[in-house]
Amino acid sequence: MQPSRFEQLPPYAFPRLRSLLDDIEPGKPEINMSIGEPKHPFPDFIAKALVENQSDYGRYPPTGGTPQLLQAITNWLARRYQLPAGMITPDRNILPLNGTREGLFSVCLAIVPASSGPRPLVLIPNPFYQCYAAAAVAAGADPVYAPATAENGFLPDYPSLGEEILDRTAAVYICSPSNPQGTVASIEYWRTLIELSKRHDFVILADECYAEIYLDAAPVGVLEAAASDGPERVLAFHSLSKRSNAPGLRSGFVAGDAELITRYRQLRNYGGAPNPLPVQAASAIAWSEEAHVEQNRTLYRQKFDLAQTKIGDRFDFYRPEGGFYLWLNVGDGEEAAARLWRSAGVKTLPGRYLARDQVEGDPSSNPGAPFLRLALVNDFETTQEALDRICVWL
Ligand SMILES: Cc1ncc(COP(=O)(O)O)c(C=O)c1O
Repeated sequence: MQPSRFEQLPPYAFPRLRSLLDDIEPGKPEINMSIGEPKHPFPDFIAKALVENQSDYGRYPPTGGTPQLLQAITNWLARRYQLPAGMITPDRNILPLNGTREGLFSVCLAIVPASSGPRPLVLIPNPFYQCYAAAAVAAGADPVYAPATAENGFLPDYPSLGEEILDRTAAVYICSPSNPQGTVASIEYWRTLIELSKRHDFVILADECYAEIYLDAAPVGVLEAAASDGPERVLAFHSLSKRSNAPGLRSGFVAGDAELITRYRQLRNYGGAPNPLPVQAASAIAWSEEAHVEQNRTLYRQKFDLAQTKIGDRFDFYRPEGGFYLWLNVGDGEEAAARLWRSAGVKTLPGRYLARDQVEGDPSSNPGAPFLRLALVNDFETTQEALDRICVWL
């Protein structure tokens, strides 16, 4: 069989973690901090809405979304980002997604142009959410990894890549608040990126699935930064997975440039799997409800306070502006993950598995290598127990 174009991708982060830990006996009962799966309570009102609408599982859902869902998303965006009236409209600027992952993946198929010359480029922060690389490759583009390290405030410095690369660029991924570092792009950062996208004619794919998980100020969004000129070349991705503790609901959306949304809708009409109608009904309610989101943030804040008390200034600890991860500089993330599992039964994710070597064949050029990612998704008591064990064994 011919090799597939995906052969260039390394094994996914979690199989790599299994290979690292499978032969090691955990020293204590397992606590899993490796996966960013929210574990705060799933809201009862979402469950109720699913049941109330269950007869609609008997109908094919519309790819473009129900009017109720599109309106709820429009209202939430306008409220959350103080968008001017009419900037985002239900029928022109929004598409529901089955969570952001499938959208962040398939969007490249719709927007990366076919090229008879050199392959188009897709820019990706390094470290990054692994789906971006597969999306670029699937669309016949070459991924270009831009380091997002402490030196550049954990955000990629795309303008520094130079004219030649930027001119070939079809799309740029940017995650804010970022996974794994929890960094928030400022309004100036977004504006610079938007200016760059106009100059070099590329699309901004803003992964904002952690936008509602923040410690102090609500993160600025790309649509907010685009408000004065409109969302041309901008697509923002949002999700209920983190906001509403509903990762299994599979519900999110993309919003932005009407022309890009039309192109993407066309592709989804052919090969998309629309959200079931009961999910769309429940999602409309979830986007309209804020109390559960505020409660959620309170729970995360309590755990970050706890982590700060326990870890202090070890491992370059910092309180991230958003998201729910600790990104600890432990020197060698892989070694530390194995040691924590063996000694403390705590499962964590080596930063190396979320990043690529900047210089091919040189593992020391991997910007994630010194780090360990810890997801603060468990309840307070479990998190406390895990942090106590970590402080003994790291
Ligand atoms: C950065 C980032 N983007 C996207 C996703 C996908 O989330 P979902 O598909 O549940 O919306 C995740 C999930 O952990 C993530 O960390």
